[in-house]
Amino acid sequence: MTFSRLLSICLSLIVLLSDCHGNAVPRVTFPLDSPGRPVGLFNPPDVRNSTTLLLSEDEETLFVGARDALLSVNVSRSGGLILNRKLDWSPTEQDVSDCSMKGKEETDCPNFVRVLQVLNSTHMYACGTFAFSPRCTYINSGQFSLVTGNKPEEGRGRCPYDPYQKNTAITVDGELYTGTVADYRGNRPIISRYLSEGDRVDVKLDDTVGWLEDPTFISSTFIPSEEKVYFFFSELGREYDFINKFTVSRIAQVCTSDVGGQRTLQRRWTTFTKAQLLCQANGELPYNVLQDMTTLQPPEGASEDDTLFYGIFSSQWSVNSGRSAVCAFSLRAVKEVFAGNYKYLNRDTLKWSTRVQEKIANPGECGLHNASDNTLRFVKENFLADGNVLPVNQELTIVSPDHHYSNIAAQRVRAAGGKDYTVLYLLTETGYLHKAVLLEKGAHIIEEIQVFKPPQPVKNILLSVSKGLVLVGSSEGVASIPVSNCSYYWSCAECVLARDPFCGWDPSQKACADIASIKGNVGQDVDGGNVSEVCKSSSMAPRSRSSFQKTPAAPCPPGELVSVSLNEVVHLHCPAASHLARLHWERLNSQISPRIYMQHDDGSLRFLATLSTLDQYLCKAVENGFTQTLYVYQVRQKSSPTLQPSTPGRSQITHASETGRGSAGSTTRWMTTPQTRDETTETKPKAKDLAPTVPVRGTPAVTTSKSSRNYDTVREDNLDRQEIDGLEGEHQLLAKSPSYLQELVVVSVLLALCVSALLTIALFSFRQRCNSKTAPHSPGSRRDAERAGEATSHEREALRGNSPAGGKRNGHSQSMAKSPDALSNGTVNGSNGHLPNTPI
Ligand SMILES: *[C@@H]1O[C@H](CO)[C@@H](O)[C@H](O)[C@H]1NC(C)=O
Ligand SMILES: *[C@@H]1O[C@H](CO)[C@@H](O)[C@H](O)[C@H]1NC(C)=O
Ligand SMILES: *[C@@H]1O[C@H](CO)[C@@H](O)[C@H](O)[C@H]1NC(C)=O
Ligand SMILES: *[C@@H]1O[C@H](CO)[C@@H](O)[C@H](O)[C@H]1NC(C)=O
Repeated sequence: MTFSRLLSICLSLIVLLSDCHGNAVPRVTFPLDSPGRPVGLFNPPDVRNSTTLLLSEDEETLFVGARDALLSVNVSRSGGLILNRKLDWSPTEQDVSDCSMKGKEETDCPNFVRVLQVLNSTHMYACGTFAFSPRCTYINSGQFSLVTGNKPEEGRGRCPYDPYQKNTAITVDGELYTGTVADYRGNRPIISRYLSEGDRVDVKLDDTVGWLEDPTFISSTFIPSEEKVYFFFSELGREYDFINKFTVSRIAQVCTSDVGGQRTLQRRWTTFTKAQLLCQANGELPYNVLQDMTTLQPPEGASEDDTLFYGIFSSQWSVNSGRSAVCAFSLRAVKEVFAGNYKYLNRDTLKWSTRVQEKIANPGECGLHNASDNTLRFVKENFLADGNVLPVNQELTIVSPDHHYSNIAAQRVRAAGGKDYTVLYLLTETGYLHKAVLLEKGAHIIEEIQVFKPPQPVKNILLSVSKGLVLVGSSEGVASIPVSNCSYYWSCAECVLARDPFCGWDPSQKACADIASIKGNVGQDVDGGNVSEVCKSSSMAPRSRSSFQKTPAAPCPPGELVSVSLNEVVHLHCPAASHLARLHWERLNSQISPRIYMQHDDGSLRFLATLSTLDQYLCKAVENGFTQTLYVYQVRQKSSPTLQPSTPGRSQITHASETGRGSAGSTTRWMTTPQTRDETTETKPKAKDLAPTVPVRGTPAVTTSKSSRNYDTVREDNLDRQEIDGLEGEHQLLAKSPSYLQELVVVSVLLALCVSALLTIALFSFRQRCNSKTAPHSPGSRRDAERAGEATSHEREALRGNSPAGGKRNGHSQSMAKSPDALSNGTVNGSNGHLPNTPI
């Protein structure tokens, strides 16, 4: 029993209290190159920094902009990437030495390709940083060769100088729209159009104060029905003059028909307007810094106004650091805001205010290039929309307390029932790809797949819907990940619990498969994940994952044999199939008392082998209201000449580690005083329920045991210190040793303080926080909280000194640990996301 533990429990309870948003924990984790979700890596030896990706229209070819190179890559059906052709496009040695002369790092001086677009049916266009002197080039698409013109194409305004500076570019009808910085120092941001067709002139942004305020460009998209190009970026929000350097996220627009004014705003945008994108829940600090944005086309037959923009946002405030949010904005909302009022900038005071003058034009309206000077002067002054674009349903789509998302891709997936689901692919800063499905109750993260190990400063994500591939470009190469692997789910229950709209249970094949490949009935319930409903028919019965893993059935299968010597610590593993499952253990013939058994946060169970603990143990997982047995162990006594076998006829037993599954069931020796107990000078009183006494480190008991049993001291150090502390602590408390009384009093006072603080917070947060979906004031991860929640019940039980039934105890700790999402699933009743049980 330690103070720090109590304190951490207290803290984590606060975290739990304020963690009222949707469940942002991935259900399954696949570390790099797990067999279930292998990642294909395209990484030819002489290709570096392959970060700029472009798919051909038919998605058969992937074009890659890399360092000093352009690649054409075949995308095969299986997701393999095969190099087609590589073009070298590098600056001369002279260029590079000039670049480093100017004080740039030599590693930043190569040509990093940052713009790669299809221009027309015969040509592509690429721009690179080219030793801090950006250049562009045409590419002949047919032969995939550089078009060597007379003079090199100037890349200024189309591509940044600095390879770490963000930019965006998009081609529409052979014209190139760009957002980037247009100078060496990187402080002249500009949105422009180049390669204008026919007699149309190139257009750029006027130098008017406030059009752009130190922006970071993120992405751009073309909406044909609007004939507009939209730019997404973050910049300083000068309209918030009461906050110093407040970052805001923006959507800006220009009309593709714009050719600039006739006298006023010549060769300048006459249709540029911008508005704030507000990713914020009621009363919370906004997630104000845009990280990435993707466009999701409306479902077939729906209005273009249902086009959605999914963005990843982070926060500039440290309370929210490490968190990120996903917000969706509809084109309809964007159009409404741009059609509304505009703010007005007082040029003398440089203060923004809501416009009071008469509205003489509609800023942002296409066709304004033909308007009068008077109108254009008005337009030039009124470009910041007064209203903010709010997310769909005015709520955050996902809030992730412990993942910093950087890149996003989205697709609509038609599930077996014909219903469409939105699936988001989110790349984390730490190199994981999260696949999330958006459900009515909130987002469900189906899986996370590790894509790369070292953090990548520059990366991109691209989705090929027709090939079913997610492509991630980074300095390590291009990773390709199939959107799903249904066959990973080995049972109907797992298949349904995954809630993957791509996957369904095929009763005829008895396998989880891609729904497109299933003829006849499909077992799937993306919204509810209701196993008992979907898998009830006998044809839905799951296959065994392996011999030792059986479904609950009576009589119980014998399970894996674990043979132990008495007074050994038995360690039974139970790797969970899902992070959302709550594990608990059951004994066939008795109950799991927390005084004898330690359940670790990884789900494993430890206990001392005694005659009374030799039994059959079942590890059960409860997820979404469905219980399944994951592992069954038969713990028996090893045959030994000095000890009587616990049961006659069970003397020949294999040790767990000798059965080839040593990792699943293994035993650890404990420094005990098995047969010599009575002779020791053990001073600790015996715990009522424990057959052998657990000696305390450094007490004479250890010495005795060593001399009598030949256990070496090295063993002692190998033991799980935490476990010993935990068990010791409990037994000592049980024994009510006077030296601990003082500590107990202090602890109780602390706990009482903690409880009253919690109750206050609970009242507060329940009223304010749980209504919204964010929790910005609670650092720390949910998993940590889960762990601490687990510890809580142990501690409480220890303090109480009673032992509720094993199942109940577990249910207890789980309701503490479980996130509100699970609560909302109806698996745990009587809790509303606040403290379900007050300690003591
Ligand atoms: C899918 O998962 C199964 C089971 O883990 C594995 O054997 C198979 O190779 C995986 N398939 C793909 C395409 O990743
Ligand atoms: C495509 O663009 C290139 C470069 O502007 C031009 O030379 C070529 O003629 C165009 N091709 C077509 C089919 O328009
Ligand atoms: C308006 O601009 C278009 C070019 O977009 C031009 O063809 C047309 O003649 C202009 N109309 C008027 C009335 O000036
Ligand atoms: C290029 O790749 C290297 C690693 O190979 C990385 O350290 C560097 O940051 C990358 N540069 C850019 C601009 O992405």
